[in-house]
Amino acid sequence: MSGRVLGVVGSGAGGVEDLLPGLIRPAMEAGWTVCVTLTPTAGRWLAETGTLAEIENATGLSVRIDPRSPGERSPHPPVDCYVVAPASANTIAKLALGLADNQALTQVNEAIGTLGLPIVVFPRINAAHARHPAWNNHLAALRAAGVHLVYGDDVWQLHEPRNSPSKELPWSAVLSTVNGAVAQK
Ligand SMILES: Cc1cc2nc3c(=O)[nH]c(=O)nc-3n(C[C@H](O)[C@H](O)[C@H](O)COP(=O)(O)O)c2cc1C
Repeated sequence: MSGRVLGVVGSGAGGVEDLLPGLIRPAMEAGWTVCVTLTPTAGRWLAETGTLAEIENATGLSVRIDPRSPGERSPHPPVDCYVVAPASANTIAKLALGLADNQALTQVNEAIGTLGLPIVVFPRINAAHARHPAWNNHLAALRAAGVHLVYGDDVWQLHEPRNSPSKELPWSAVLSTVNGAVAQK
């Protein structure tokens, strides 16, 4: 294992099925060691398709979904940067409130409170999610904590539910935000 370590966190949102070619492989080619944690929903989706095993083969590290037992050691090295992509509306709301009821949230919430640890989040949401009365407060809370959001019409246009033209996630914007956030450290 060498180089800087990128903690990639995926949740149950569209495009998570492309995490390996979209983000993990490009990050590894750029010199990152990548360790992946998934929410239980994303973990189930990627296990069903065999993508989870492909990620473990590519990264050489187990994908974390469940919390470890108290007597177990973490299977991942300490990370230099976290990236949550894609982040569902549910995962964003929980991060903004500090809820940590799965392994992915546990890691990222602790990271949000860790001084000097950059965090990049790409909310993969639709127009209805953005009209929820709590949404703007969630974004404001994350921004105030120093989280780098990949968000806005230039990177991801919002569509009504079930009306999105199938569209690739803005993986290169996500990775360049990671590199920019680490350079600012
Ligand atoms: C096929 C499918 C696609 C979904 N896509 C999204 C999405 O792009 N964004 C989103 O916020 N929720 C999406 N959802 C809903 C989330 O999966 C759901 O809210 C889930 O509880 C999220 O859990 P997690 O944040 O712990 O991964 C989708 C659900 C399904 C079944």
